[in-house]
Amino acid sequence: MAPSLTSKYQAKIASVGIAVPPGLLTNDDLSKMVDTSDQWILERTGIKQRHIAEKGVATSDLAAEAALKAIEKAGLKPTDIELIIVATITPDMILPATACLVQTKIGATGAWGFDISIACSGFLYALQVGCQFVTTGAHKNVLVIGLDVMSSIIDYTDRTTCIIFGDGGGAAVVQRSDSPDIPGMIDFIHEVDGIGGPALCLPGGGSRNPTTAETLEKKMHYVHQDGQVVFKFATRKMADLCVKLLERNGLTGDDIDLFVPHQANLRIISSSAERIGLDMKKVVVNIDQYGNTTAGTLPLALNSAIEDGRLKEGSLVLLASVGAGFSAGAALMRWSY
Ligand SMILES: CC(C)(COP(=O)(O)OP(=O)(O)OC[C@H]1O[C@@H](n2cnc3c(N)ncnc32)[C@H](O)[C@@H]1OP(=O)(O)O)[C@@H](O)C(=O)NCCC(=O)NCCS
Repeated sequence: MAPSLTSKYQAKIASVGIAVPPGLLTNDDLSKMVDTSDQWILERTGIKQRHIAEKGVATSDLAAEAALKAIEKAGLKPTDIELIIVATITPDMILPATACLVQTKIGATGAWGFDISIACSGFLYALQVGCQFVTTGAHKNVLVIGLDVMSSIIDYTDRTTCIIFGDGGGAAVVQRSDSPDIPGMIDFIHEVDGIGGPALCLPGGGSRNPTTAETLEKKMHYVHQDGQVVFKFATRKMADLCVKLLERNGLTGDDIDLFVPHQANLRIISSSAERIGLDMKKVVVNIDQYGNTTAGTLPLALNSAIEDGRLKEGSLVLLASVGAGFSAGAALMRWSY
């Protein structure tokens, strides 16, 4: 049974703003740091470059920049925002929550907020939570942010992880959709499977292994990944959830105007699109420019689609995520400004 999002109102994304640091790390740059090559990275991942934050630039700095752009595009003032949800696995610090730092930076006086930590599924899960507050009528303007400074937790001597990730992300203002023909968010399906934890994790610095000289020496403060296990899960699960979501809404890939998937690896994206029955022409791909920005990929991809004119009033959009946890999800929405 599909969860109902229609308790009182419909919710939609009213605007998107993004922030990426100006610094670039190209495949050629990486090939001078580890044993890799532009050709290998491009063929295996589809990535050409990633943006990397300067030392001292933290998640809340970029999140605030993206948030102010989204708020302005929605024709709002920061004081109109009632709730701030930040999806990130690279908070400025363990506490306070990044949402509190963003609230102060943008001057969203009176807003409350919290962080969501679910890695690459972060933005989609946060979007769903934000929509719930709008559909119940509790709030009119919710700010949903997905952003990571992945360079802060990556080991740049490990060629299996450092080639994948980049910094950046974006923010979306979620509001009520008043058009009965264009309902905004229609349905969602999300799943976690903790069995996948060891395949993609950052083992140090938490309550299991508090930071010590030993955890630092063992590089436990960096992302550890079993790439092939993650790859297999991502390819299968993202497609499975999308198909399930489409089927229970009486749809097929042919009905979808635009597929906006998490940007983890071009091969994961194209294999998922094929399994869902979607032509690659309908798929938003910008991994070549940004790499995998974890919680940042979906707002960056939505922004690319808006700027390219591919996201049109009334477009039927399928969003999908997959990542550490394991976690995965898909959502269906009718786009309207
Ligand atoms: C990490 C990933 C790109 C590796 O690609 P792959 O095709 O699976 O490569 P493999 O792990 O099978 O390694 C193949 C070979 O390339 C080597 N290799 C690994 N990284 C390399 C690099 N950056 N440059 C050159 N060679 C590399 C391996 O050592 C291996 O060598 P061997 O055959 O001599 O043992 C891929 O597994 C992947 O994208 N996984 C999912 C990661 C992901 O999306 N994470 C985020 C989830 S949201």
